[in-house]
Amino acid sequence: MEFIIDTADLAAIRRIVEYFPVTGVTTNPTIIARENADFKALLVAIREAIGNLQLHVQTTATKAEDIVAEAEALHDLLGDPFFIKIPIDAEGLKATKILSQMGIGVTMTAIFTPQQALMSALAGATYVAPYVNRLDNICADGSGVVEEIVQIFDNYAIDAKVLAASFKNVEQVHKAALAASHAVTINPELFDQLICHPLTDAAVAGFTSDWKKVYGEKTVQDLI
Ligand code: E4P
Repeated sequence: MEFIIDTADLAAIRRIVEYFPVTGVTTNPTIIARENADFKALLVAIREAIGNLQLHVQTTATKAEDIVAEAEALHDLLGDPFFIKIPIDAEGLKATKILSQMGIGVTMTAIFTPQQALMSALAGATYVAPYVNRLDNICADGSGVVEEIVQIFDNYAIDAKVLAASFKNVEQVHKAALAASHAVTINPELFDQLICHPLTDAAVAGFTSDWKKVYGEKTVQDLI
């Protein structure tokens, strides 16, 4: 499963890329606006920070021709691997058909139903992004929707990948993994929570204290 960072916070991106096994960064207009920075400079800095990892940037255009023009401009600016995020609607589908012919990757976003995902994939999207937490918020079973999309893609041997998004806790990520989501995009704080456990802390504290009783402050390297 791919893990992607859902933020435009440069310091957080640099930290997560250094420590965690990640395949890219996703943004959306809300995430970008949160940084309150020069848009172009921010995206260029993110590209510099992530090197050849994926960068997913969302369009703000609503007509297919304008979406295609934005995607081309962003692709020229940022280079590959690049994916234009397009909210699912008819104009978005039309743009996806054109962009996939041009070889520009599309991540269809704001997906809430398996049929939206299926139509996006058939139009040529590389990724479809169902919003797990927003579905859970209305008692609509976010991981269940992820599972159904994966199942439908399997049924028809569709190459598109599920990039589950909008996570708020570890349990949601765990359920997406059980549902065989191909990828998840999560915020930096959730990366830390995924590997945290009080029993791990207790185990390490025990190892340290037992070691010090015999070897004091000496390290393994001091003794070999
Ligand atoms: C990412 O692709 C989505 O835009 C994002 O995960 C949505 O998250 P939210 O529901 O927390 O805004």
